[in-house]
This record gives sequence, structure tokens and C-alpha cells, in this order.
Amino acid sequence: MGAPEQAVERVQQLRRELDHHNYRYYVLDDPEISDEAYDLRIRELRALEAQHPELVTPDSPTQRVGAPPAEGFAEVTHGAPMFSLANAFDEEELQAWYDRAKRLLEGEDFSMVCELKIDGLAVSLTYEEGVLARGATRGDGMVGEDVTTNLRTIRSIPLRMMGDAPPLLEVRGEVYLGKEAFRGLNAAREAAGQPAYANPRNTAAGSLRQIDPSMTAERPLDIWVYGTGLAQGGDVPETQWQTLQWLRGLGFKTNSHTRRCATLPDVMDYLREWLERWEGLDYGTDGVVVKMDDRTRWDALGAAGREPRWAIAYKWPAHQAVTRLLEIGVNVGRTGKLNPYAVLEPVQVAGVTIQHATLHNEDYITGKDIRVGDQVVVERAGEVIPQIVSVVPEGRTGDPPPFRMPERCPVCEGHVVREEGESAHFCTNASCGAQLYERLVAFRGAMDMEGIGAQWVRVLLDRGLIRDAADFFSLKKEDLVALDRMGETLAEKVLANVEKSKGRPLSQLVYALGIPHVGAETAELLARRFLTMDALMAAAEEDLTEVPGIGPKIAASVAAFFRDERNVQLIARLREAGVRMAAAAEEAPVAGALTGLSFCVTGTLTDMPRSEAEARIRELGGTATDSVTRGTSYLATGEAPGASKLRQAERYGTPTLTEAQLLQILEKGELPV
Ligand code: IVH
Repeated sequence: MGAPEQAVERVQQLRRELDHHNYRYYVLDDPEISDEAYDLRIRELRALEAQHPELVTPDSPTQRVGAPPAEGFAEVTHGAPMFSLANAFDEEELQAWYDRAKRLLEGEDFSMVCELKIDGLAVSLTYEEGVLARGATRGDGMVGEDVTTNLRTIRSIPLRMMGDAPPLLEVRGEVYLGKEAFRGLNAAREAAGQPAYANPRNTAAGSLRQIDPSMTAERPLDIWVYGTGLAQGGDVPETQWQTLQWLRGLGFKTNSHTRRCATLPDVMDYLREWLERWEGLDYGTDGVVVKMDDRTRWDALGAAGREPRWAIAYKWPAHQAVTRLLEIGVNVGRTGKLNPYAVLEPVQVAGVTIQHATLHNEDYITGKDIRVGDQVVVERAGEVIPQIVSVVPEGRTGDPPPFRMPERCPVCEGHVVREEGESAHFCTNASCGAQLYERLVAFRGAMDMEGIGAQWVRVLLDRGLIRDAADFFSLKKEDLVALDRMGETLAEKVLANVEKSKGRPLSQLVYALGIPHVGAETAELLARRFLTMDALMAAAEEDLTEVPGIGPKIAASVAAFFRDERNVQLIARLREAGVRMAAAAEEAPVAGALTGLSFCVTGTLTDMPRSEAEARIRELGGTATDSVTRGTSYLATGEAPGASKLRQAERYGTPTLTEAQLLQILEKGELPV
């Protein structure tokens, strides 16, 4: 089943918009829309892509790791190149590295320094006369990006060194985000309704490359310093071990788990010890860096390409473990897609107990010939969902049957189909309980019904206590306390929160209805314009397109939604339950000089930030929108206005204002006559 054309179009439109806004924000450092407006769009795109995974493309803004394009930063040529490291994946490879270096040193043994390999991103800090002059990312090793202002927000980087050092010194280290800090950051994002970050490393990288240093400052980044680059006009100690002590003395943060090892067996001991310990650290590490201690011989060994021969990275083994596949379960998503998953015998992988893994689709399972009862290799990479990598062939007992997707939906017993060219199976029943579940979860989320988590929605549905959104409001205390793990206190809290949600602003209710194409922002525009549910329901498509910010597609979708008798019935039941059907006072337009007028502001204003201009427009009773539609009264243009907005304004004959004209209106609080 392919994605409906509407979804395809909307996804494309959102991507165009988001790409444009990304460029404005990251490349030009001049956003046209608020972060909230941007978030709404990216969330809508994420939701659509989750519903139609086949629409996800590698270039979608949702697939960006969060690294803004480099154009925002100046280039910095490193005084000395920043090398990479060759890898060793086992002790033999480490031995081979040692033997080779020893040969090159004409048979001399050498001592080494073992350091943890921090999983962050390399930076070079240039100190001039002891003062931090510049900080740069590694880039390609020769030229990096100037992120000085961002690095300055990291408190553990000294702005001035605490002692004598060469007049010009490059200090090298790894910037990272601690695990605890990462969890805290994500908890805060979740509370604010923002999507969680994927892993500490990418978050640290994204934070360091923020155009706005105040954003970086909010991320608790940190650094471990591990060496030097160019040093001019003075000396650096002759061994790596002394260099680290010296750097510590100059005020840098060096890692205390570093060890000087006289022989290779000592190095092996260090590796074995840290193989057991690394997962317990508060920061990510991906192995151990072994460096020849005597720096005076580094040059003699030279490099193979970008990889110096005086050091090697011993990498931790991949995060894999073998366990037994107990069962293959199947979930049904909001769109009716069947998602198979593995139920595993619990196993520890990289410090976390794994009991489930995704199995993607039928082809994935049959392709790897995964069968119930098999011994399977599971992998957990970073914070992503665990995967089954392969089956251990010797681990199979008997002849378990190959997996087949059920022919009937496990939730509603509806017909399951797999269309030509699709990897997924879908339940064809449009009123499938699984889809209902997703809608109900979205409803209670939009209405802020605290205490009713997704699991409770599941339970309530399974017990037949709710069949649609209106049923939330007829829940009885005695029904709730009869549920497992629902005590009297919790039941009372749930009911109180359900009660409270009846009074949510109209905009929230409109959003909660789940009208296709109506996100939170559009819902707000609709609520402000129509003020009551009745007026909104009665609005003809033409009335809807008159609303600034509402295009023909949304208008058609809203009108169609209210034509559907089932939706009309649902609203009647919500009304009966006492849910607020009219705008709250704060949603009603302010009466002022600009009442009834809507403004779209584009480009950079020189005299005040756009957000301030928009706030002032609202204060005067006007509406500020992000796009030009037929209902837009004026397009105000700053420097470098958006071309598409100008085109739209031309198309609709929307009058334009210069910045001076806009400011005059805002200052005087009246329109020019
Ligand atoms: S030494 C040749 N020491 O690993 C010298 N690097 O794969 C290279 N890294 O770009 C740097 N911890 O980002 C060194 N204690 C450590 C390190 C470390 C992490 C990173 C660094 C470098 C990469 C090389």
C-alpha cells in the first residue's frame, strides 16, 4: 500500500520549507520563523515519515545528524595537522603494531602511554602568549572550522593558561557530553515536547557547531585534553606522559585513567582492565589509544597516510551478544502497518538488558532465516533500537517453521495485505483497534491529560472502557480502581486530570481531533478566527481559505472532516461531556488598531527582531503569520525577503510594506491613511 498522494505532497512541501528554513538559520544565521514554528513543521514531517516509512529519503531534514553546514564558520588551518589513528581490534593486531614500530626503531623496546579513547569530537585550541586565541574543529585534519565562541562556553577550557608555555601553542583534546548530562538534556527536551537527541556524541558535535553560542552554553559540554600540536618559541616535554602532567599544570583537564606502561604485557593488562570498566564511566569511550611515550622518536616513525605509526587505537568490541529468540510478536501501528519484533531471552549488551529487538518486516526475517528458538546475535549501537544481526547456525535445534506474517491483523482480525513492491504488511481495516489506539494516545496528549500514559490507553481500550475520545470523560472511579496497578490515589488523579482537560483552549481541542493537515499552529489560527466549534464546523471551504495562513489543502481537509457524520457525532458527545467548545478569553483577538488584519513579515528587519515586530502586531490586535495566503493583508519586507513570499504576494495582489512603513504602523499603533 503506497502512501496517499496527499501525504506525499505534504512531505515534499514540508521538506522544501524546512530546507529553506535550515538554510536561513544555519547558513545565513537569519531565521525567518520562530523555533516553535520550525519545530511544529519538523514534528509534522517526522510524524508523516513515521506513518509512511517508505517516504523517508536520506536527504530529508529529519535525517540530518544535526550538523549545520560549515558555511557559517570561518576556516582555520591547523598549525600542525590533526592525525587520525590506525585501529587494532584484538591483541594480535596490537602486537603486530608494536613489532613493526620496534623494527623501525632498530629493535629497541619502548614504553607507552595508554589513554582512554574518548568518543566525542577532536578540537584544537590555539593559545597565543598563554591566552586562548582560537578554537577549531578537526575538519579534514588540515583545515577545521573556527568555533572559538562556542568553545569558550565550555567552562573547563582555560581562557588563559596557568603557567609558562611556548608563546604559540596548540592544545588538542576531545570535546564530549557526559551521559548524565545527555540524559538530563533529553529529559528537558521531552518535557518541552521536543524530540529526544539520538546520542551524546552527535549532540556534542551539533552543540559545538551551533551558530548561536548561547545555545552551546546551554549544553553541558566538557573536554579531555590529550596532547599538543604546533608549539613555537618554547619547548614541550619530551615524553607523552610528561606532556600530560605539564598540560594539567597549565590548567587543562586531563584524564586520570591514563597509565604509563613499560612493556606490551602491561598495555594488555590495561586493556583487559578497561574492557571490564569502560561502560561504567559517565562519558563514552570507544577504546584505548596506545602511544609511544618518547615523543622525540615520533618523527622518526612517521605516518602511513594520516595515521602516525607511534600510536594505535585499540577498539572495544562491537556491542553484541548471543541469546535465544523466544517468540516473534507483531504490533500494529497507526497506519495499520504490521511491525514484527523479537522477544528475547534477556541478555546484557553494553551494560543494558535487552529483551526486544526490531525485526522490521517479513523479508528481513526470512532473509536472515530467523526462526523462533534460534540462537541469535543481537547488537545494540548507541541509543538505537536493538537489532538481530544474524543467526548462529549451530544453535538451531529441531526444524522450527519459517516465519510467516499473520493473514489476519493480530489486533482486529482484519485482512492483512502486502502490496506489490512493498516490504510492509498492512491491516486493511480502517477502524482497526490499533489505529484507534494511536488516535486516542494522540488525543489525550494534545489535551494534556496527565497521568494517562500510552500504556493506560491500551488497558482502557482492552477492557472496553473507552471506544472513542469522548469516552475518556465518562470514566468512573470504580472502573479505574478495578484495574491492575491502579490504586485509589492514581484513579483520583487521573479523573481530576481528565476533568481539567475539559477546559483546554479551543485550539487544543481542534488539534486533538486529529484533522489531517491540521497541526497545533493551524489549530490555533482556526480557533482564533472562528472562536467557537460551531462556527468552525459551519465554515465553508471558501471561509476557511480566507483565514491568513490557511491554504486550500488545509481548508479542504477541515471541511471534509466536519462533513463526516462520525466526527460530528464525536464532537456532540464531547460537548455533552462538558468539553469547552469556545475560545478562551486569551484566544479571542485583542481589539486594536490592527484587528482583523494579518501581516506576514519576511527578511531581516534592521531595527528590531522579527519576533518583536510580530509580538507588537498581536498586541495591536493583528495576526502575524509565517506564510502569505489569500487572506494575508500585508507582506512586510525587510532585507533579503523570501522570494516565494514575494511571489505569493504578487499572485494574490497582497500589498507590501517596507520596514519603515511597518515600523511606523507599529509605533503609532495605527494604519496610515
Ligand atoms: S591522539 C595521532 N588521544 O581519536 C593522534 N586521540 O581516531 C591522534 N581521541 O581525532 C589523537 N581520545 O578525536 C588521541 N586520548 C586520545 C583520544 C583521541 C579520543 C580521538 C580524536 C582523534 C581520533 C583518532
